[in-house]
Parts: sequence; C-alpha cells; structure tokens
Amino acid sequence: MRIALLAGDGIGPEVIAQARRVLDALGLDLTYEEALVGGAAYKAVGHPLPPETLDVARRADAILFGAVGDFDCDHLERHLRPEQAILGLRKELVLFSNLRPAKMFAELADASALRPEVASAIDLVIVRELNGDVYFGEKGMRKTADGLREGYDIMSYNEAEVRRIAHSAFRAARARRGKLCSVDKANVLETSQLWRDVVIEVSADYPDVELSHMYVDNAAMQLVRNPGQFDVIVTGNLFGDILSDQASMCVGSIGMLASASLDANGKGLYEPIHGSAPDIAGQGKANPLATILSAAMMLRYSLDQGAAADRIEAAVAKALAGGARSPDLGGTMTTSEMGDAVLAAL
Ligand code: NAI
Ligand code: MG
Repeated sequence: MRIALLAGDGIGPEVIAQARRVLDALGLDLTYEEALVGGAAYKAVGHPLPPETLDVARRADAILFGAVGDFDCDHLERHLRPEQAILGLRKELVLFSNLRPAKMFAELADASALRPEVASAIDLVIVRELNGDVYFGEKGMRKTADGLREGYDIMSYNEAEVRRIAHSAFRAARARRGKLCSVDKANVLETSQLWRDVVIEVSADYPDVELSHMYVDNAAMQLVRNPGQFDVIVTGNLFGDILSDQASMCVGSIGMLASASLDANGKGLYEPIHGSAPDIAGQGKANPLATILSAAMMLRYSLDQGAAADRIEAAVAKALAGGARSPDLGGTMTTSEMGDAVLAAL
C-alpha cells in the first residue's frame, strides 16, 4: 500500500511525524513517498504545488496530508500562496466529498466549549462539498461606476456537482443512523435553491434515509444548542468550512478533528481539519490526534484496513482516558509526548 506523505509547513510536519510513528507500529505493509507541498514547496522550488508533488499524490493509493499556510508567505500573490496547494490537490484529483466526523470522546467532556450533558451527545459527520462554490468561482477586484473599490467572488453550483455530493451524503447516512440534514440558505441564494431541489430529487433513491433541511444560520445555532440531533449534515464548500470548525470546538479542540476527502472511486486525501497554526509551529504544542485519527480514516476508507483503523481509534481513546492532554486540551504534553501516549496505548 503506497502512501503519499505530504507534511506541508507550520505544524504539518510535526503532526505528520506522530501519525507516521503510529502507522509504523501497526506492522502493515505500507510504503511512503514524501513530497514538498505548501510553504515548504514554495521555499524550495517557487510553487506551492509542484508537478512532482501532484505526481506523487496521483500514483499513491492514499494521501496523508499535514497542513499548509505559512505566514512567511502572506505577502505572496494568491496563486502562489500555500493554501493553493490543498485547493489544487482537491480540484486536480477531483476529491469532491469531504467527510468530517465529530464525535465526543467521553474523556474530553471537560475540554468542550459546551456543557458536558450537551456535548456528550455529539456523534455526527459533516459531508462538505469540496470542488465548487465561492472558493472556485470567478473572483476579482474592480471599480464601481463612482470609483469605489469592489471585490467579488462568484458562488455557483451546477446540478451534477450537487447530485454527486448528495449521493455521497445519503450513502454515509445509510451506513450510520439514517438521518441526513441538508444545510443551505435557500431563502436567499439561488445556488441553495438548486442545492435543495437536487437533494430532494436524489432522496428518491434513499427512501430509508430521513431527510431534513435547515438554513445555515439556524444550523450554526442548533450545533451548539442541541448537537445530538444531527447524524449526517451535507452542505456546500463555504458553509461546511465554517460549520466544521464550529463543530470542532463542540468536541473539545480543532486539534481533534480528522477528515477524508474522497473521489468517486474512494481514493482519498486524509488530513486534520486544522491549518498550519503558525502561532504554535515549532514549539511542540500541536495536538497530533487529528492527524493520527486521519490516518485511521485512511486505513478504513482507502486501504481496506478497518481493523487497524479500529485499533488506532481505541488507542487514542485509551490515551485520553489515561490523561493525555496537549495544551489545546488543557494539558501540558508536547506533540511527541501525545504520540508516545498513543503508541503506549496501542
Ligand atoms: P489554524 O487551524 O491553523 O489555527 C487556528 C487556531 O487553532 C490557532 O490558534 C492554532 O494554534 C490552533 N490549532 C490549530 N491546530 C491545532 C493543533 N493541532 N493543536 C493545537 N492547536 C491547534 O487556522 P488559522 O490560524 O486560521 O490559519 C493558519 C494558516 O493555515 C492560514 O494560512 C490558513 O489559510 C491555513 N489553513 C490551512 C488549512 C489546510 O492546510 N487544510 C486549513 C485551514 C487553514
Ligand atoms: Mg477551514
């Protein structure tokens, strides 16, 4: 099983190193091919997603990604910024379906931003569309007729894009508790009206799944009021980006949330949902659990190693139960000590 290891910049290499230790401890037949991406690639070769890196990603069975977003690159034009690397990988490899599970580890009830009795019920998956929406639409700066600067970003979805993510989400719901909530802003946006119409059309294929609809502003509120009501949430690229960061704080920390970004054939890129956290990079403060849990998702979804994935998830729970806490979880353990705790539990 060939894994592309794209560590990126900032805390990316720190958290990837710990995931690698955990993968190595499983005794599976894995080979790794490392490649530069994001700020690290820009500094080395002048581009955040060099063709060699894309080749490594294409020929791998699965991709494990750290994070990109080095502050040193803030002055760069948009197409050279580190984030273009992850956007480029998602687009080039047609990784349109982003699964972001958020489950409350009972051991972390004290770290949640919510009251324990509210937080303990969280067991949901956000299915976020990754290839369309305002992130990929035409964008630019112009002057209005009276000379004011005006920025614009076009938001659009076509029905094929909505249909394929809807199928992904209905399948995910079917494999879980059979409830799907589609989140949009259909009262205001045309893209959302199409989204809602197409999701309803697709629902005819999944009579066993209970479909509901919610406006995104209400969804943001419901996620903190009563998150236990959600099983699977399907939504567009922008709304999904925001709601999943919010969900992360409901379960304790952004350092806990893993993700899978899949194409139509199940090939995937696996990454923590957080960015490169330049504010804590190089200090050993990053929580590696989101990346370790992303490696577990990789084993389960792309490499058919469900038992090994179960072992990793159980080891993370055991490490937390044993008191493993990085600073984001209210503790003092370093990134590598968190890795040690998971390895010991494994
Ligand atoms: P961020 O996720 O990097 O950090 C947000 C906050 O959470 C920071 O205070 C950070 O210290 C903390 N944090 C993040 N991950 C953590 C971890 N594993 N352990 C402990 N604390 C953690 O988001 P921010 O600050 O908005 O963005 C920083 C850079 O990352 C930007 O350039 C952004 O564009 C980029 N970014 C990249 C992503 C990716 O590579 N997929 C995703 C999100 C942002
Ligand atoms: Mg985000």
